[in-house]
Amino acid sequence: MLRGGKVGLRARHDEDIPILRTELYDDVANASRAEGGPWRPMTPGSKDPRLVVDDTDEGRVLFSVVELAGDTLVGTAALWGIDTHNRGAHIGLGLLPAARGKGYGTDAVAALCQYGFVVRGLHRLQIETLADNIPMLRSAERNGFVREGVLRSAAWVMGEFLDEVLLGLLARDWKPDPQV
Ligand SMILES: CC(C)(COP(=O)(O)OP(=O)(O)OC[C@H]1O[C@@H](n2cnc3c(N)ncnc32)[C@H](O)[C@@H]1OP(=O)(O)O)[C@@H](O)C(=O)NCCC(=O)NCCS
Repeated sequence: MLRGGKVGLRARHDEDIPILRTELYDDVANASRAEGGPWRPMTPGSKDPRLVVDDTDEGRVLFSVVELAGDTLVGTAALWGIDTHNRGAHIGLGLLPAARGKGYGTDAVAALCQYGFVVRGLHRLQIETLADNIPMLRSAERNGFVREGVLRSAAWVMGEFLDEVLLGLLARDWKPDPQV
């Protein structure tokens, strides 16, 4: 378990899967905004890599996000696109609707930075998010990520093209959260 101030990142448990599927991936609007691809229904029991860990995939580490007080599941987080030559990776994060707006996103990004920079020795972390996703932009910026560019009309989301923002953080600029 990697501990932040309020949330922890732990392994995916079987009982997390139906909750994440129902609350995140069956929600067409949420999935369309977060996935970077078209929503498709997820068959119960399928080995979809967004939910089920493939330990042979070296490029991706999947976590369940839990409230430290009580070990309650609050979301999913990933380090993906891990590139061991250039020593970079991308961050992905999705919290259950009831868990949003409580500071957990900011805390989960801090824990993912700890994992990426300290545990994995990476040099650069990157986040891509929709330009109107204020909570994600703020969660990233609170942890030192800087906006490196806007990808204009890069995402087709529910009938319209939306801008994406690319944010990056270098290990040398990272100030670890003392609570993590
Ligand atoms: C994006 C997400 C991970 C952010 O986590 P969160 O726990 O909701 O965010 P936090 O509570 O840590 O808030 C971060 C900041 O955003 C602000 N914020 C939170 N919700 C907000 C809202 N609905 N509107 C405006 N600002 C908001 C907070 O005030 C805080 O600002 P501050 O740093 O200036 O104090 C979460 O909302 C989520 O899972 N959303 C749905 C899936 C998603 O968009 N994933 C990201 C795909 S790239």
